[in-house]
Amino acid sequence: MRQAAAAEEVSAERNIVVLTGAGMSAESGVPTFRGVDGLWEGHHIEMVASPEGFARDPELVHRFYNLRRAALKTVEPNAGHLALARLEREWRGRFLLVTQNVDDLHERAGSERLIHMHGELRKARCECCGEVSSWTKELSSVTRCLACGEVGGMRPHIVWFGEIPFELETIMTALKSADIFLCIGTSGVVYPAAGFARQAASRPDCRLIEMNIERTEISRHFHEHIVGPVSVELPVLVEKSLME
Ligand code: APR
Repeated sequence: MRQAAAAEEVSAERNIVVLTGAGMSAESGVPTFRGVDGLWEGHHIEMVASPEGFARDPELVHRFYNLRRAALKTVEPNAGHLALARLEREWRGRFLLVTQNVDDLHERAGSERLIHMHGELRKARCECCGEVSSWTKELSSVTRCLACGEVGGMRPHIVWFGEIPFELETIMTALKSADIFLCIGTSGVVYPAAGFARQAASRPDCRLIEMNIERTEISRHFHEHIVGPVSVELPVLVEKSLME
């Protein structure tokens, strides 16, 4: 493994963009998407994570997200989340954390400069008035919007397949000036996030580091590969980086 080389590069540079995927929260007990069969109660993930799926069976989709929202109460940030929050606190240059995860474990660990590009389980949006609200309870087809009072327009504040992720412009701008791109626990099959490595690589001096328990669809774009679980590898990388 190249932990020492990776840490040396990280410490020597200034602007860092970190991308996290479901592997970040796996050890906290949040299931990844592309597990053994990729199904949820017999439904393909696209059935419960697309505007078409929501139009076809809104109650099914609400049930899927209600269960996932409720499950957040049973999980805690792991050592990897805590390490990233520490990296942000102590980093001398610009820092941006972009997550594809819809859980709230990064913020509970203390991360602040954070973009949830695929939305957040603990938020709901009204399709009638556009208001986004904090949401910890259940949603259903008869939930009333607290802002406009309409019934039936509430949906999870989640980016579904076919929808445009949040804050892409900010992310692209950060990638253009990144000295380091650290990509953690993502399979690299869902775009545009899967294309961030190539975007970062267009800057000749940018170091690209991938952390995952296995090789991925996008591994070939990275200069260094840290192979192992985030709860073990991230604290080591951050410690080494900040000691310099
Ligand atoms: N440490 C590091 N990596 C891990 C760990 C771990 N403990 N556990 C799993 N992984 C890796 C897996 O090897 C895999 O490459 O995390 C990755 C998880 O991949 P996916 O389940 O495909 O999740 P992700 O890449 O985040 O999915 C992207 O797809 O369904 C959509 O919107 C959803 O945000 C999601 C997007």
